[in-house]
Amino acid sequence: MKNLEDYVVPWVREAESYSDRHLEFAWQHPDIVRMMSNENPLPPSEAVIDAVLNTARQGNLYPDTGGKLRKILGERVGLTADNVVLGNGSTDVINFILETFVAPDDEVVISVPTFPMYETRTRVNGGIPVLVPMQANFYWDVGALISAVTTRTKLIFLCTPNNPTGNNLAEDDLRRILALGIPTFVDEAYYELAEHPYTYAHLIREFPNTIINRTFSKAYALAGLRIGYAYADERVISFLNRMKIPWNVSLIAISAALAALEDKEDQQLKRKTILEGRRFLCEQINLLPGFRAFPSDGNFVLIDASILGKPSAEIVNELIARGVFVRPMGGHHLQGYIRVTVGSPEQNRFFLDKLGALAAEWIATQ
Ligand SMILES: Cc1ncc(COP(=O)(O)O)c(C=O)c1O
Repeated sequence: MKNLEDYVVPWVREAESYSDRHLEFAWQHPDIVRMMSNENPLPPSEAVIDAVLNTARQGNLYPDTGGKLRKILGERVGLTADNVVLGNGSTDVINFILETFVAPDDEVVISVPTFPMYETRTRVNGGIPVLVPMQANFYWDVGALISAVTTRTKLIFLCTPNNPTGNNLAEDDLRRILALGIPTFVDEAYYELAEHPYTYAHLIREFPNTIINRTFSKAYALAGLRIGYAYADERVISFLNRMKIPWNVSLIAISAALAALEDKEDQQLKRKTILEGRRFLCEQINLLPGFRAFPSDGNFVLIDASILGKPSAEIVNELIARGVFVRPMGGHHLQGYIRVTVGSPEQNRFFLDKLGALAAEWIATQ
């Protein structure tokens, strides 16, 4: 008799899943300040909560495809509802895009370091991730990305502003990549939080291989309700609609997103909290001798803490022991780096206090 494992398709048997341990840990330790997952420190607005509660009364009904929401989102960038697909978070979108374009043993080009989900979902779907390191200054290596493309390349993943480096890909460089004609996922998950938000959605008309990703998880603070979306050419959307599971986004998530889009005052409050917190964090971190905070257009700051001479995971464990949870960035040549999510003013001060204590300990041992 065969083992149960032998029935599993090889690429799933061999794939490691995206580790959710950090979230398990955070939920089990609510006393530890969570600054590890680029969540918004503020809860959804009262208007959003009212919408969620009211919609729950219709919870016996299946949702539609969110036509009203797609129309509003499309019009925001000069497109239509037919240029928008909704996902159960943009992670769902990432997955059904992979399912649509990538067959087992096809290649997927990914600029790294970046959001690790592109790589893990590529593997789970049988694709081969081709990781292209950014340059030493953390700018995309456009030449290397273009050279990494082969006849087996079916998808390219780019993220701007990039998680975790916080910087933006210039339009000329993106155009060079789009000119290859390969479906290219441009992740604008942090678009609304940039100092000067700038979208590449206009490139869809010129390059129909452009797919622009967005989410309600960051600027709109709906990470727990799960809703994201992508803009693309109508033909691309029609293929994605075949692949995605019907009713993948709940009625509640759709109504929360509509209410969040309407609540401009709350959007401004959240944006102000993140932008001010980000400036404060960068300023203060750069005052710590030997530490470096990278300028960021996301709700996070990448920190070079390699002066401490410890691996990233150890730095994170020491911060957890002091009551604050941030993310280790040990992979992709970032050993000794950590990433902190911008929190509330109190959370930011708490984190700086704890990081300062680590720095002081280090100085004392020199
Ligand atoms: C670049 C990027 N894209 C997508 C996501 C996932 O967002 P969602 O909650 O919409 O699945 C994240 C989450 O951290 C991210 O950093």
